[in-house]
Amino acid sequence: MTDAQSKPNPGPRRILSGVQPSGKLHLGNYFGAIKQHIALQEEGQCFYFIADYHALTTTQDAKALSERTRDVALDYLALGLDPKKAAYFRQSDVPEVTELAWILGTVTPMGLLERAVSYKEKVEKGIEASVGLFTYPVLMAADILIYRSHLVPVGKDQVQHLEMTRDIAEKFNRVYGNVFPIPKERLDKESKVPGVDGQKMSKSYGNTIEIFAEGKPLQKTLMAIVTDSTKVEDPKDPDKCNVFALYSLFATPEEKEALAARYRAGGMGYGDAKKLLLEKINGYFGPAREKRKELAAHPDDVEDVLRDGAKRARAEAQATMALVREAVGMKASSVG
Ligand code: ADP
Ligand code: TRP
Repeated sequence: MTDAQSKPNPGPRRILSGVQPSGKLHLGNYFGAIKQHIALQEEGQCFYFIADYHALTTTQDAKALSERTRDVALDYLALGLDPKKAAYFRQSDVPEVTELAWILGTVTPMGLLERAVSYKEKVEKGIEASVGLFTYPVLMAADILIYRSHLVPVGKDQVQHLEMTRDIAEKFNRVYGNVFPIPKERLDKESKVPGVDGQKMSKSYGNTIEIFAEGKPLQKTLMAIVTDSTKVEDPKDPDKCNVFALYSLFATPEEKEALAARYRAGGMGYGDAKKLLLEKINGYFGPAREKRKELAAHPDDVEDVLRDGAKRARAEAQATMALVREAVGMKASSVG
């Protein structure tokens, strides 16, 4: 196993990831992140959380934040997160992470944050350039390091944040001694799912296909997938088509090849391909939709899962903070 250098971390491989509750989860989130989060439950000690502190950089509406947080929790549980295997929790239920973020901030060079691509992109999109948005990567480093994680399954857009986390951890270890393992990202092969307009699918581009959309709204979204104006009878190039790219996420290699052959032969309209995509989505997410409805009817059970996850995560975070405080010359926290 080369995933970690990790002298300081005892025990099994730690896997950690977070998703911001900043809108309805979509196919990009699923194939880029959630699917592997769930598969990895079998492979290590997992910590997964809802990044609500991070979401405050963009969602500044109490009702929206709490609703989205609940939605993400329901989505994960419906999609197969097993709270017996993974600790699943709200980031803000482990407030120690903000303490670590402060301490890490004191060893983080300004230049490192100034090079952050995602900060620049968000500001270009009109998000306010707050201090929180600027120091977002430091809080993310704290998320990862406080659980002394080895492996962080994320989509491609998060790789720079992982590089920054490694730089920060190495700097801390150099200054104060070896406290943190050096974590690595794990990319899924579907690291860039296209949206209905062909750009990267993203909540902030308004081009998503929601995982839990169904019926008419789902149909409407699929009908809006942008295609070129090749006539029905003419041959089409599957590799240039968003519908085909999305279909490929669900299809077996044989099904994919069969549809590609129909594209190349001509005589099939994009509407037909969209229908096949709709069937795939319905088949794939049908059981999770039913499960989500059941879970939504029992909000107390969901709350119990999050509370229990937070308890496990917090114990780990407190153990790390004891090491960090000692390393920097502070006493262990005597409160709480
Ligand atoms: P969004 O861009 O919709 O705001 P987030 O930034 O909250 O999504 O991403 C949550 C997780 O889903 C991250 O690990 C991210 O890399 C992954 N992800 C988001 N969009 C995509 C996509 N289009 N393709 C692959 N992975 C994605
Ligand atoms: N920045 C991540 C995103 O937008 C969410 C996140 C916050 C995260 N903290 C994390 C992901 C720690 C992995 C590990 O997708």
